[in-house]
Amino acid sequence: MMKKLWPYTRGYRKWILLGVVCSASEAVFELLLPLVMADIVGVGIPAGDTAYILKRGALMVLMALVSMALGISAAFLSSRAGQGFGANLRQAQYNHIQEYSFRNIEKFSTASLVTRLTNDCSMLQMSLMMGMRLLVRAPVMLVSALVLAISISLKLSRVFLVAMPLLLVLILFVITKVSPLFTGLQERTDEVNLVVQENLAAIRVVKSFVREDYEEQKFKKRSDALRATAERAFGFVIINMPLMMLITYGTIIAVMWYGAPLVQAGELDVALLSTFFTYITQVLMSLMMVSMIMMMITRAIACGKRVVEVLEEQPDITDRGADFSLRVADGSVDFDHVSFKYSQGSEKWNLQDIDLHIPSGATVGIIGGTGSAKSTLVQLIPRLYEASQGTVRVGGRPVTAYSMEHLRDAVSMVLQKNTLFSGTIRENLLWGNENASEEEIQSACEAACAAEFIRRMPQGLETDLGQGGVNVSGGQKQRLCIARAILKKPKVLILDDSTSAVDTATDARIRAAFRTQLPDTTKIIIAQRIISVMDADLIVVMDDGRIADMGTHEELMKTSEIYRDVYQSQQEGVGANG
Ligand SMILES: Nc1ncnc2c1ncn2[C@@H]1O[C@H](COP(=O)(O)OP(=O)(O)OP(=O)(O)O)[C@@H](O)[C@H]1O
Ligand SMILES: [Mg+2]
Repeated sequence: MMKKLWPYTRGYRKWILLGVVCSASEAVFELLLPLVMADIVGVGIPAGDTAYILKRGALMVLMALVSMALGISAAFLSSRAGQGFGANLRQAQYNHIQEYSFRNIEKFSTASLVTRLTNDCSMLQMSLMMGMRLLVRAPVMLVSALVLAISISLKLSRVFLVAMPLLLVLILFVITKVSPLFTGLQERTDEVNLVVQENLAAIRVVKSFVREDYEEQKFKKRSDALRATAERAFGFVIINMPLMMLITYGTIIAVMWYGAPLVQAGELDVALLSTFFTYITQVLMSLMMVSMIMMMITRAIACGKRVVEVLEEQPDITDRGADFSLRVADGSVDFDHVSFKYSQGSEKWNLQDIDLHIPSGATVGIIGGTGSAKSTLVQLIPRLYEASQGTVRVGGRPVTAYSMEHLRDAVSMVLQKNTLFSGTIRENLLWGNENASEEEIQSACEAACAAEFIRRMPQGLETDLGQGGVNVSGGQKQRLCIARAILKKPKVLILDDSTSAVDTATDARIRAAFRTQLPDTTKIIIAQRIISVMDADLIVVMDDGRIADMGTHEELMKTSEIYRDVYQSQQEGVGANG
């Protein structure tokens, strides 16, 4: 995993290297301090040599200052490297997610992707930062303190033979316990984010159903689960501390026990014994540091795995095998015995044996009950999903032959659940085609019957839409989405139930404008109201993933029972809901 994440330190490796050098030197300076101290106590004080004491004291101050400067530099370098690494990692994930197909995104869930992009990345960046300091300091301190302690008294150093294995066993025990808990911790975070994200995105629905209490409970449940997991995980981390202290002080007592007779026998100098104590504490402290780092690494590994998953996910719709020079020749659309299902594992086909041929420039209506797979059918044209069997062709060539960019530039789709972005109306329209001229914007707005209400807006095209386009009505939003799609000047224009919130008269005006302004564009219109597709060149009646009937309005009235039923039921309601 380290190998997979290492490339993202690009641009910050020299900071890492420098930081590591600073941390290591800082540790060495800190260790040398007690030796000078021992000199003062052992040589300077017994001799009563004030000049010597002052000189050594000045040296100590100097060493402390150098050590401080190194420490500050190390902290600066490590936070710089950590932040840079985190930023690289976030950007890489974000860019990779942009290539995901709908299916890839459904696999992770948006909430989990958000956690991986934010929380997991922060954990990793913090681990690098702390790791650069502690991971370097701890071994350097450990080894040098050990060497110095042994050089003072080999006999007394034997206490380490007991204390160190004890500590190591303790560390290993805690890590094996805590590791699965950390993975769980990230998963619980995903769940909390899911609730928050869903709730905030649908806050209007929640309010209109007065379900705030229910939502609060739902949140509380997830939040409590997160707290419980965190408590358990960090419980182990915390218990680690007192146990380590116990071993440390136990060791100190043992050294006193065995050291005192040595001093009495004159084998060991008192000053050296006190220095020895400093080193023992340092050895044990660095072991504690190691245990903390291990803990952090365990958590970082849990986060790292999740980030690597995002980075390694293969987008299942790619430009592989595409001819980048190929452009969509015309707006003809063909389905050659196409079948499709959303999940490979499921028994049921969502689309079965669709055979449909649409000539360029035609207007095609698609009618069918909810869940009859109308949206599923048209989503295969811009390759939002990939046909499981059969071939979908646009402009006479399979959709896989084009690069995604060229295909989707030629096939403009207004999704059933569409969104506008925060920003002005103009910005939203230009999002479809950033090079559109003022005239093109005007004519697209005319065609989508949006020009009129935009004119009435206080600042016209410059009106700010607020987050997700809250400032416009449902029907106005739909018309803006249509205008945005037209601006791309597509060869194929697909409207998935895109005029459902527009009144019938405006709906008819939009269709009339399509006919005159976009004569060469193939128009595929999914609608609930038959009146919206009545004048189409071809009407497709979908039923449970199959084409039930096909033909013009007149033909279908004669041949299709489903069509006739729907038509009649809608006729009856004409007066009431027009
Ligand atoms: N992302 C998805 N993953 C799995 N199944 C899906 C997905 N989207 C739709 N389905 C299933 O596919 C079937 C067809 O759905 P589709 O959205 O194409 O219907 P539709 O005809 O557009 O309905 P509506 O008129 O309500 O928009 C439904 O049974 C639905 O449960
Ligand atoms: Mg639909």
